[in-house]
Amino acid sequence: MCALRVSGGGDVLAVVAGGPLRGELRMPGDKSISHRALMLAALADGTSQISGLSDGADVAATVRAIGALGAVTESGGEVVRVRGGALREPAGPIDVENSGTSIRLLAGIAAGCPFTTVLAGDASVNRRPMDRVTAPLRLMGAEIHGADGGRHAPLRITGGDLRGIRWEPPVASAQVKSAVLLAGLFADGETVVNEPIPTRAHTEEMLAAFGADVRVRGGEVTVRASRPAPFAFEVPGDPSAAAFWLVGAAVVPGSEVTLHDVYLGQGRDGFVRVLRRMGAEVSAAPAGDHRVRLTCRSGPLQGVTVAAREVPDLVDEIPILAVAAAVATGPSRFEGVGELRHKESDRLRSVLAGLAALGAAAEVDGESLVVHGGARLRGGSINAAGDHRVAMTFCIGGLAAADGDETTVEGWHSVATSYPGFVEDLVGLRGA
Ligand code: S3P
Repeated sequence: MCALRVSGGGDVLAVVAGGPLRGELRMPGDKSISHRALMLAALADGTSQISGLSDGADVAATVRAIGALGAVTESGGEVVRVRGGALREPAGPIDVENSGTSIRLLAGIAAGCPFTTVLAGDASVNRRPMDRVTAPLRLMGAEIHGADGGRHAPLRITGGDLRGIRWEPPVASAQVKSAVLLAGLFADGETVVNEPIPTRAHTEEMLAAFGADVRVRGGEVTVRASRPAPFAFEVPGDPSAAAFWLVGAAVVPGSEVTLHDVYLGQGRDGFVRVLRRMGAEVSAAPAGDHRVRLTCRSGPLQGVTVAAREVPDLVDEIPILAVAAAVATGPSRFEGVGELRHKESDRLRSVLAGLAALGAAAEVDGESLVVHGGARLRGGSINAAGDHRVAMTFCIGGLAAADGDETTVEGWHSVATSYPGFVEDLVGLRGA
């Protein structure tokens, strides 16, 4: 039996449990930061240089989108050059494919531009809520038409002549904050986003670093009409990708994994705190500028309670933390996780189904996910529901099953969204 096999034209992964994960990896470029670097470069009047961009399909969709909007991108090896500053009406609809970050952030830019932009995505993006961005952008003066009265993509946005607003997002969402801030760069007067619960701060941090008029005070971010200046920037490694290997190292006996150059700034470090609370042996050696080298060794875990307030800091890591919780001693409770229903798949449903397939008990209690813990995982058959994080989560879950058990993940192609090199990295860590 082969320990690892990808078949079905790349769409089915089969993995056999047994043997530790050992070694060192460099993570792919952070997806959230890559999108923003490209969009800010498209707004900057001149040429920016970006290295270490995510090689995933979502970020490739943003490269194409800024191209359609008039930015000129050129890649030479590790470095992508973007000549921005002169945005123009796209010749046709922009297809963001599976990328929620692309469509929501680009909606903010499109709202500022005095022409019509049509933003469309795949079936998953078209199901996801867009009113959270269309409502504030309309208040700022953009004309937006979309399916179900603008609640869903495709979105047809005619922008320009914006006025600043004060916005308190009803859901904690970095994408919503970012869309409003990006539109604010084009608006008359101040645009203020006041977040009741802080979310990842990449947009305001990068706007400030690249010279736009932005101010952060407490939970409030204020922008005024301005543009970033052209910049040179190196994208750090993706903590959301790192989380899979940290949990893998924690739960597969005999493992030790080191991950280099992982971003661990505001809004992205919550999963490390939670893993430590569960008793995982995780060390983080600073490597400058919110970057760290993370090492994790296998060991016993205990159940944990994650409060709703912590969720924005680990929103993308809840599925993989649920695998850690499944094998931990005692129950775990992830509170206020209703937003997971609106990700690339309904992740509450996908996580429950995946855990059940591997023999772990969990349930949704209102807005909380409860994982009973103490499971002895067995191999099973998982459907990733087209969701990259679900696919990678249950590959790791399969590795934590009884030795010799096989787990299959259908819908494996979705991993290309954020981490095309996942299998290669897994092979490296298993020494197979
Ligand atoms: C992201 C914000 C989060 C996260 C997504 C990326 C971003 O979404 O889940 O993967 O880059 O701003 P929400 O803003 O919907 O919470």
